[in-house]
Order: sequence, then C-alpha cells, then structure tokens
Amino acid sequence: MILILQLLLALSLRADGYYIYIVVDCISSSSDLADVEYINTYYFNKAPYIRFNSTVGEYVGYTEFGIMNAERWNKGPEVQQQRGELERYCKPNLKLDYSNILEKAVQPKIRLRSEKQASQGHPALLMCSAYGFYPPVIDIYWLRDGEKVTSGVITSEPMANGNWYYQIHSYLEYTPASGEKISCVVEHTSSKKPIIVDWEGSFTNSDMAKIIVGASGFVLGIILSTAGFLYYKMKSPDFL
Ligand SMILES: *[C@@H]1O[C@H](CO)[C@@H](O)[C@H](O)[C@H]1NC(C)=O
Repeated sequence: MILILQLLLALSLRADGYYIYIVVDCISSSSDLADVEYINTYYFNKAPYIRFNSTVGEYVGYTEFGIMNAERWNKGPEVQQQRGELERYCKPNLKLDYSNILEKAVQPKIRLRSEKQASQGHPALLMCSAYGFYPPVIDIYWLRDGEKVTSGVITSEPMANGNWYYQIHSYLEYTPASGEKISCVVEHTSSKKPIIVDWEGSFTNSDMAKIIVGASGFVLGIILSTAGFLYYKMKSPDFL
C-alpha cells in the first residue's frame, strides 16, 4: 500500500482568478520507509513550475520562470534546507502514520449471496459485501474460473458506518453455466493475501424441479405408509 502524506502549504487566491499553491508530499510504499521520497512542488494555475524531489536532490524548473528560480535556489540555502526535509519531516511523520493508521487495520468480514436468481433469459445477480474494515482503502473484484471479470460488475464506494469502520458492496450480473467457478476477491491492507470467497452455487430451475419431485415423493410415501399402518391396525383383532 502506498502512503502519501500530503500538505497543502499555501493557497493564494487573487481577485483576477490566478492562484499559486505549494504541495509537499511524502510518498512511501512500505512501512520500513525503504523508498520514501520527499516532493515539494509549486503550482501556478494547476501547472507545476518548480519541484524539489529528494531522489533528484535539487530543484527542477518546468517553465521559464521555474527554470530561472531553480538555478537560483540550487545555489542558495533553499536547496540545503530541502535536502534535510526527508529525514526531518517525512520519516518521523510517516512512521507515526503507519503505526497510527495502517497498522491498526481491521479485516473485513465478507458475505457472498444471491440477490436474484436467473430466470428466462435474465441473468442472476450476486452480491459480495465486505463489512467492518479499516482503513477504507480496499479493492473488491470478481473471478470467473480464475480470470478477473470486467463486465457486468457494479461496485459501490467504501461507505462509512460512522464508527471508523467501513463497508463496500459489489454486484455481479452473470448467467450460470455448469462447472464454472465464481469467486469474490477482497484485497485490503489488513491481510497479506487476497481474501477469496467462492460462490457455492444456487439451485438452477432444473435442480429445483428435481428437489420438488423428490420432496413430493417423500411426502406421498409418508402418507401412504401411515394410511397402510392405520388400515392394518383397524383390521387387526385387538383393535379397540
Ligand atoms: C523523483 O525522482 C525520481 C528519479 O528521477 C523519479 O523516479 C520519481 O518518480 C520522482 N518522483 C516524483 C513524485 O516525481
């Protein structure tokens, strides 16, 4: 999981609609901070014009004005100060963020169910829900025989429960085919491996017909055997 600690340093909104702002990013993709970068970018009307990137180690300008400033700042105390920000600002703060947020992750509970059975040319609708997870960043998707399903899927945004936990729902429209394996997959920082829940299948119409025939036979059998037993009892000599 990539963690970005972002600080909007300045916002200057002028009467004529121009604006300048500075964004400081500390970007890291693992809690050991092995690849952490400090990025300080100046924007004019959304376009970056000068940036300090800790991996590059100096200012780089993108416009005439930015290039001019980069040359000047790279010779002065500005660049020295910027070179220290990775250690001074990014590392301690990212460490806190990892231990306060990401390492307090709570694993979701997954529920997979059928919302609608397939009938006369209409596909079935499966619903996969993840409940009670934290933080809200999550990936939920479907596999059909191990392949990621790309069509017929609708997924909600993570929704806040209001108690720091979140839920998310994904729907899959599909036409059941025999021997096919459908799974719902959830990837979340609380679990190193993807959580996979297989669809156990629902009854198709012909399965349903077989069950009804079987159940009817069973009930009929009970009725007939009870009747036969009563008849035998009534005929027997010691019947009162
Ligand atoms: C910072 O510079 C490095 C090396 O050029 C580059 O790989 C990286 O993508 C840059 N980071 C950003 C956020 O621009």
